[in-house]
This record gives sequence, C-alpha cells and structure tokens, in this order.
Amino acid sequence: MSAQQTNADVAVVGLGRVGLPLALSFADRGLKVIGVDNDPLRLDAVAQGRMPFQETGAQELLDRVRSNGALTLTAGVGMAAAARSIVITLGTPSFSHIEIDMRDIRSALDDLLPVLGAGHSLVLRSTIAPGTTEFVAGYLAKHRGLRIGEEVFVSHAPERIAAGRFLAEIDTLPCIIGGVGPRSGEAAAELFGVFDAPIVQTTPVQAELAKIWANILRYTNFALPNLLMMDCERYDANVFEVIDLINRDYPRGGIARPGFTAGTCLRKDFAFSEERSNAPGMLLAVSRVNESVPLFLLEGAKRRLGSLADRRVAVLGLAFKADTDDERDSLAHKLIRLLERELADVVVHDPHVATPTAGLGEALDGAELVVVAANHAEFRDPATLAAIAERAAGDCLVVDPWDCWGAALLFGYASELRELAGASPPTQPGAPR
Ligand SMILES: NC(=O)c1ccc[n+]([C@@H]2O[C@H](COP(=O)([O-])OP(=O)(O)OC[C@H]3O[C@@H](n4cnc5c(N)ncnc54)[C@H](O)[C@@H]3O)[C@@H](O)[C@H]2O)c1
Repeated sequence: MSAQQTNADVAVVGLGRVGLPLALSFADRGLKVIGVDNDPLRLDAVAQGRMPFQETGAQELLDRVRSNGALTLTAGVGMAAAARSIVITLGTPSFSHIEIDMRDIRSALDDLLPVLGAGHSLVLRSTIAPGTTEFVAGYLAKHRGLRIGEEVFVSHAPERIAAGRFLAEIDTLPCIIGGVGPRSGEAAAELFGVFDAPIVQTTPVQAELAKIWANILRYTNFALPNLLMMDCERYDANVFEVIDLINRDYPRGGIARPGFTAGTCLRKDFAFSEERSNAPGMLLAVSRVNESVPLFLLEGAKRRLGSLADRRVAVLGLAFKADTDDERDSLAHKLIRLLERELADVVVHDPHVATPTAGLGEALDGAELVVVAANHAEFRDPATLAAIAERAAGDCLVVDPWDCWGAALLFGYASELRELAGASPPTQPGAPR
C-alpha cells in the first residue's frame, strides 16, 4: 500500500515498555495510531484497557486513549504500512557472541518490504549498533530498489527516556534524529514534532553512538563504585566512608554508590560498541565488574557465616531498578541462582514484580541472611529494617550494597544496622541502575 492510500498517521511496531507509552502518547496528541505487536496477550491487555507493565501515568493515558478511539491494534506488521510513519520499537538484545541480535528487526523489515511505498517514513526507535540505520536503508534499497531519503525515508530517533519517566520526559528530553539521505530527518522531525521536546538533527551513526554511549557511560559510572566496594572488602575498609571522603565538598565530580547494575539496556548496550571496538576489553572489564557483584556479595556472606547450605536466605527485590516491576536481566536472578548453587534455601520478596514472590514477613521468617537486591522505596523504609530485626533468625546478617538505611554497613548484623541507621549520609535513590 502506498502512503497515498494510508489512513493512519503513525504505526508503532512493538508495544513494549518503549513502544506502548509512545503509541499512547502519539494518540493522546491527536494522531491516528496503529499499534502492532505479535504477542496476543499484550494486544488483549491493551484492548481491555489494562497496562501490561508499570509506567507512571500510563494507565490514565491508556484510559484516555481508549475513549478517544485513536489507537487501532493489530498483530500484523504489514498492517503498519497503512500509516505514513512507521516507528520500530522492537527489542534488540545482544547475542552471547558480543553482537547485536537483530532478528526481530529483520523479521519486521521482511514483513514491511512488500508493502512499503513512496512517502513512507521508517523510524528506528530501538537501540541499535552503529551502522544499523544505514543497513536498514541499504536493505530496503537492495530488495525494493527504493530511493532512500527521496521517496522512502529512514531514520534513527533513539529512545533515551528512563523507565517510569516516560510521560515526564517525552516533552523535555531532546529528541535526537539521524536521517539517511536528504529528507529522512525532516520526515521524522515532523512526526516527533507533536511533542514539545527540542529536536536535534544529526547523522544516523552519530545518533546511534550517542544513545549507546549514554548507556555505556552509566554502566561504567556504576562499575567504579562496585569495584571500589570489592577493593574495600580486600583492605577491610568501609566503602560508604571512602565514598563520603571522595565526594565531600570535592568540586571535581563525584562517585556514585555501589549496587546491582544491570537491566535490559545497560547490560547489553555496551556490546553494540564492543562488537567492533578497536580497544577490545575495556568495556568487557566494566561488564565483568558489574556482573560479579552478586558473587562478590555471596562470598562476603560466606566469609562471615560459613557455608550457606540449608540456611534460609531472604532476597529482597527482583527488579533491576528501584520502584519498577522490570526484572529483565536483573542481577537479583543471578544472585538467586548462585545462592541455590550453595544449597541455600532462598525465599524472595518483591512488592512490584509480576513474578509471584513471598510476602515480606514470610521471606524474613527464620532468615539467617538477608540480601537487599533492589533499592525499592519500601525497603528503604525503616519499617523494613525493623521487620528484619523482628522476623529474621537471631542477629541475622544483612547485605545492603545500597545503604538503604544510612547505616553505612555493606555487611552488617541486624542489631548493628538498627543502631547505626541514619548515621551515614542519605542514600541516593536518584542514581538508579
Ligand atoms: N525499556 C527501556 O527502558 C528502554 C529504554 C531505552 C531504549 N530501549 C530500547 O528500546 C527497544 C525496545 O525495548 P522494550 O524494553 O520496549 O522491549 P520489549 O521487549 O518490552 O518490547 C518489544 C515488543 O515487541 C514485540 N515483538 C517482538 N517481535 C515482534 C514482531 N516480530 N512483530 C511485532 N511485535 C513484536 C514484543 O511482543 C514486545 O511487546 C530496545 O532496543 C531497547 O534496547 C528500551
């Protein structure tokens, strides 16, 4: 179908954590939107007005959009061609080969190939390896002979919004656009111009690099305090006191706090740069630091308690990020697998995630070890520390890389933590993973 025959303004392909809030936001701005997803459960949930995941303000937005009828849902990617603009928001994981896994994008392109026509604008919103936008343009030119940038437009407009902040940032965070050929950038800017955020035009590869390196920077920034945490254990030093010494009234930057650094974007995006890096190894080392945090904490607990076999261990938090329900690539799962390999009896509690977990009291009952794996607001509440002291076994060991209660103890016993709570500078919940 050519764009002349279209009856919608925009199609969003992939109604995940990026695509669904975006599709709803377009519809809320008065555009006619086609939402495409091949997961029938997801389509069902949206059709029935249920947000399939937590995103601040998105449920109210979905309610509004359902009543204005601006969103049509379909499982067929080819149907996206009924819209003039097609935004791809599909997942782009990495293979274990340190290489982008583009299978979803390739599959969507193959579905779109026969139906793309003059006037269509294809916008890649997914995070992609450098060179992918040019590859997509080349793929369309090769298989359909389309003149990219003149009759069909291809661009990259990376999603940079953090989970939970979509509606706050869609109108403020500069929207980077890298278009192929003379007019692709303009076409994408016309679409994203419905939001209030400033638009910054650049080349496709610069847009790709800017997105990936923003995540690499965060991943690396968090690896440094994690490495420092491991060094402090070696020297019998207190990581929170060292961090305070580094940061206190020091005018040249500062160091973040340790924690579980992973999640669906940070864990894999470095691989998109590393796949062609001229200096292989540096970012792999960063990844290894972050990935080894669960093992480091487990070994620290063993040094203090001895064998964990048959001991009850409570893990607080499954999500990779504070106050979200997103468990994808969370290091809490890795921690649990490692604990199970020690033959520990693991009980998990997370008040946010969809995976069923035990209640807080049940998780803590009789626990000899408690690990705070996510810094959810509920855990930072002093009531959780009180519950640990009351419900866990004797004076249980608490492992808290986030310093949830300001006690400044990475490995502390419940009684010490209660005594010291509030003594250290406040935690930084604003530095999420
Ligand atoms: N989640 C974030 O916070 C975030 C932030 C910035 C960038 N990104 C990037 O945005 C992209 C999307 O991430 P996400 O978290 O929304 O992913 P997601 O896995 O939540 O969503 C992908 C959606 O696409 C659907 N899908 C998969 N294959 C399909 C196909 N062939 N046809 C139709 N639908 C299909 C899935 O059912 C799913 O609903 C990724 O590249 C990611 O790296 C994500």
